[in-house]
Amino acid sequence: MHFFEGKVAVVTGSASGIGLSLARACLARGMKVVLADADAERLAWAESHMRGEGEVLSVVTQVSQRESMVHLATETSRRFGDVHFLFNNAGVTGGGRAWDTTSLDWEWVLSVNLYGVIYGIQAFLPGMLAHGAPGYVVNTASAVALLDSHPSAPYHVSKHAVLALSQNLRASLKRTSVRVSCLCPSSVRTRILESDRRRPEPLPPGSAEKKRWRNHVRLMQEQIDGGLDPDVFSEIVMKGLQQRRFLIVSEPQLKTQARQSWTQLWTDEC
Ligand SMILES: NC(=O)c1ccc[n+]([C@@H]2O[C@H](COP(=O)([O-])OP(=O)(O)OC[C@H]3O[C@@H](n4cnc5c(N)ncnc54)[C@H](O)[C@@H]3O)[C@@H](O)[C@H]2O)c1
Repeated sequence: MHFFEGKVAVVTGSASGIGLSLARACLARGMKVVLADADAERLAWAESHMRGEGEVLSVVTQVSQRESMVHLATETSRRFGDVHFLFNNAGVTGGGRAWDTTSLDWEWVLSVNLYGVIYGIQAFLPGMLAHGAPGYVVNTASAVALLDSHPSAPYHVSKHAVLALSQNLRASLKRTSVRVSCLCPSSVRTRILESDRRRPEPLPPGSAEKKRWRNHVRLMQEQIDGGLDPDVFSEIVMKGLQQRRFLIVSEPQLKTQARQSWTQLWTDEC
């Protein structure tokens, strides 16, 4: 039986970056793909470009809203039937230090990065378990989930939470037909630093929050620009899935960095 061919994949955050690349990699392997993103314009663009590459459906989706994820599951089953691969990938970055990040930014980042994954699991997993064929839940966390600091506290917290959620899910699903993987990429060349465009309320121009956000972008831009091509990362992911890896990273040296970071915790001063 083919691992990918003929299967159905749902990819959130697939109008750009890693999600777009994952969707393409799924199509290239003969899968039917559902593209889900909050950015209606870019989603339509992505769908129109992929139509020639295979069977594709796009559904405008807010991953941070449970009803929207339920709607995505309904539309998916209406068009393609059972789901085999669920990529909970949509994500944003925002905020900065824990104490001067606004409550709105904390809520926004956690609602997309963490609740988006929770709602994805709730909307799709019961159906995936019920049909009984091999299924895969693939949650995008980040390398920062394995490391001890990041300029954005909400982002850092959300990604640790996605890793913990994936570990928990994997343990609960051990005796079922569904496997769980967690993606922990380091820097990948995407539009993640343009997350601002998805913020529920724009930051007031000239505000302290806006200045802090600009600093954040300045800090991170060089890293993102020098990051991996998303197509290279998505190939690593597809290979990792076929090898049944739980943790899928973009660079092998992350293992050493993560080990150092955790070992240091036992001796670090407060
Ligand atoms: N780029 C990196 O260096 C990097 C590193 C580690 C982890 N990640 C993670 O990879 C994932 C994909 O990000 P990317 O780097 O491809 O960024 P990206 O901005 O290029 O793509 C993210 C997509 O998510 C969509 N999105 C944002 N909020 C949404 C919402 N509420 N509902 C539905 N869709 C929404 C955006 O419209 C966008 O199309 C994220 O979870 C991100 O945290 C990225």
